[in-house]
Amino acid sequence: MTGDLFAGLPRGPSVETITEGALLLRAFVDEEEAAALMAAIDKVLAASPLRHMQTPGGFRMSVAMSNCGQFGWVTDRRGYRYQSLDPLAERDWPAMPEAFAALAARASAAAGFAGFDPDACLINRYEPGARMSLHQDKNELDMDQPIVSVSLGLPATFLFGGMARTDKPQRMRLESGDVVVWGGPARLAFHGVDPLRDGEHPLTGRCRYNLTFRRAR
Ligand code: SIN
Ligand code: FE2
Repeated sequence: MTGDLFAGLPRGPSVETITEGALLLRAFVDEEEAAALMAAIDKVLAASPLRHMQTPGGFRMSVAMSNCGQFGWVTDRRGYRYQSLDPLAERDWPAMPEAFAALAARASAAAGFAGFDPDACLINRYEPGARMSLHQDKNELDMDQPIVSVSLGLPATFLFGGMARTDKPQRMRLESGDVVVWGGPARLAFHGVDPLRDGEHPLTGRCRYNLTFRRAR
């Protein structure tokens, strides 16, 4: 009921601790900044389009992906890795937009991880039904660098577990403008996203975007 009463009202920023080393910065991105990020996403995607990558096991990922920055995360039959070449566009990934770098720096500092300088940004697009199963982000070289994860558009249920796949994850609803930052003792926590529920969002239409900033090398 309260969800309906407050739907559409701007939410004030607040900070929630998920676990030691992991924070949820609610409403960290306001609507004006979100619109600027969305415009920058569109530019990146015009150069390096979204695509459904294959897992090493041969499954097509339900989330469509692209990247910007010096390195992009890719998966295919040869495995998970970072590379500077976009295998679809057959050229380097687009540069990290200024608005992306500024947000990543602000969010990581707000979460207590000063000096984070991401060289990779994965762009995930979830359409209704798309999901991300529990996984660890572990293709990066320096595990002292945090992860900054930004939600735009339709809400999603985010799962944040422990260091073992079998640890029961906490579930939290992420809305447009929410940012999750994890590092330190939580850097290798398992996390994932439940199948996206259908809906319509003024910023993105029938989908959710997620930006994941990382230091790859
Ligand atoms: C990811 O772990 O790559 C995506 C997380 C999210 O979509 O919130
Ligand atoms: Fe991840």
